[in-house]
Amino acid sequence: MAASIVKRVSRVKKLNISHISARYKLLTGFRHFSTSKQWNKALVLGVYENESTDSIDFTGTARKFDEKADGKISQLLLTVKKPLKCGKTRTLHAVDPEFSSVLVTCIGKRGEGYDELETVDKGRESIRAAVAKAVLQLRELGENEIEVDSCGDTEASAEGCHLALFSYDDLKAEKSRKPTVRISCATRYSQDKNSMEKEWRKGAILAEGQNLSRRLMEMPANLLTPTKFAEIIKEQLADKCEVLVRDKDWAESMKMGSFLSVARGSVEPPVFLEIEYKGRQSDSPLALVGKGVTFDTGGISIKPSQGMDAMRGDMGGAACVAGSLLSVSKLQLPVHVKAFIPLCENMPSGSATKPGDVVTAMNGKTIQVDNTDAEGRLILADALCYSEQFNPSLILDMATLTGAIDVALGAGAAGVFTNSDDMWNKLQKASVRSGDRVWRMPLFNHYTKKITECQLADLNNIGGSRSGGACTAAAFLKEFVNNKNWLHLDIAGVMTNSGDVAYLGKGMSGRPTRTVIEFINLMSKETKN
Ligand code: BES
Ligand code: ZN
Ligand code: ZN
Repeated sequence: MAASIVKRVSRVKKLNISHISARYKLLTGFRHFSTSKQWNKALVLGVYENESTDSIDFTGTARKFDEKADGKISQLLLTVKKPLKCGKTRTLHAVDPEFSSVLVTCIGKRGEGYDELETVDKGRESIRAAVAKAVLQLRELGENEIEVDSCGDTEASAEGCHLALFSYDDLKAEKSRKPTVRISCATRYSQDKNSMEKEWRKGAILAEGQNLSRRLMEMPANLLTPTKFAEIIKEQLADKCEVLVRDKDWAESMKMGSFLSVARGSVEPPVFLEIEYKGRQSDSPLALVGKGVTFDTGGISIKPSQGMDAMRGDMGGAACVAGSLLSVSKLQLPVHVKAFIPLCENMPSGSATKPGDVVTAMNGKTIQVDNTDAEGRLILADALCYSEQFNPSLILDMATLTGAIDVALGAGAAGVFTNSDDMWNKLQKASVRSGDRVWRMPLFNHYTKKITECQLADLNNIGGSRSGGACTAAAFLKEFVNNKNWLHLDIAGVMTNSGDVAYLGKGMSGRPTRTVIEFINLMSKETKN
């Protein structure tokens, strides 16, 4: 590899006739290379934002590449007087015998890190976005092998590439091309080859988990029924985890009256998934719980038809649990995790639950179902109760629970309700690394009062008014949890991406899978899990 670069450099040197300009010398070089070979391999190089018009601030890898190329990359970049700004790219062709395109992408200012107001690591986030843009542009050019600069953070670079190249086109005749992406130059220019490749793999696995979540969320509900969800999870996880698929009879035997009251309107049978990953011996696992409503029509309290198709993603919590487990098990994290996923459809029918019906949850609490569209909390109530039986060191649930969290936070962050400052600090730390943010919300008694004021039962499944809807939903869930380390993530606002996250295409986002994986990674470093 190095030999071929040196050979090219000496060829360029032979063209070094003093009366022609440096630029012309380079152009003659181009012509020579472009006719000699058909390439389909490209290289992504990073540069930092730099005001100077006569120097380029390359990343370590890019600088070494430029040196090997006898300064050709910097010369070409400097032919244009406008310095590259963060997120902008320049594509150079035939500057190297190995690569048909060398795409230079600007990764923002050197040394950028934690931004307190944004609660995110800006450096890592800029890398993800910059390499994502680069690989998509190179795919447009028909490149099918792409080597990517680590940009000083190999993991973030791998995440950006693999997240950007995701598409759900299983049901289309025309599939989008998937160029192969790998860490660039690590083998050639870095002494630290093994650790870089390990980090690249970690980033790729983090993205793979999120991409599984996205795929499951995107799948249409006629294809992804509760039964099919369970089948896919078995396929994806069975070699690394124990997967138990419980049926309706089992749920009845567990007295999960709240969960079953949602499922009863549909012809699709409900499923309760129980998954265990045992990366270490322990009798206090981390418990993950995910809302798995494979389609939410609202039931008898039916939703308006506009935009209802998005409710195929109402199993986003379940999908993020599955995606997290995929990555945790592939990374072989030394941690014990148990996951609980209630799966059903929320449909209106002759057998559906009606507003005003009263149902009994597993812990014996009675619930007046005044709105059948507030079904997520009903299925989670039983799943949370059940998870408590396994002596978990913490319980983290994820659910596309309320439209109200979208009103409050939009796609800026997932809303987090927790009874533990320590858990909150750890989750937030994880989200700073992942770039997939969280924001803390209140669990005040104020909201509990709204759902305990109930005419017929112990609890009402709605808070009476629309005010603080995400908080009353969380207060409802709190009635089914005793654990001192409980986190509830309302992910309805981050369910889809409509362009806010630069490295995720439009559609179901799979957020906040990577935050949860990072969080589990942090927890795995604590001995008791
Ligand atoms: N699945 C919805 C919440 C949702 C809304 C998810 C938008 C994703 C995007 C949930 O089951 C629901 O319908 N909640 C109701 C609760 C209300 C009836 C108290 C809501 O938010 O309107
Ligand atoms: Zn609903
Ligand atoms: Zn729902």
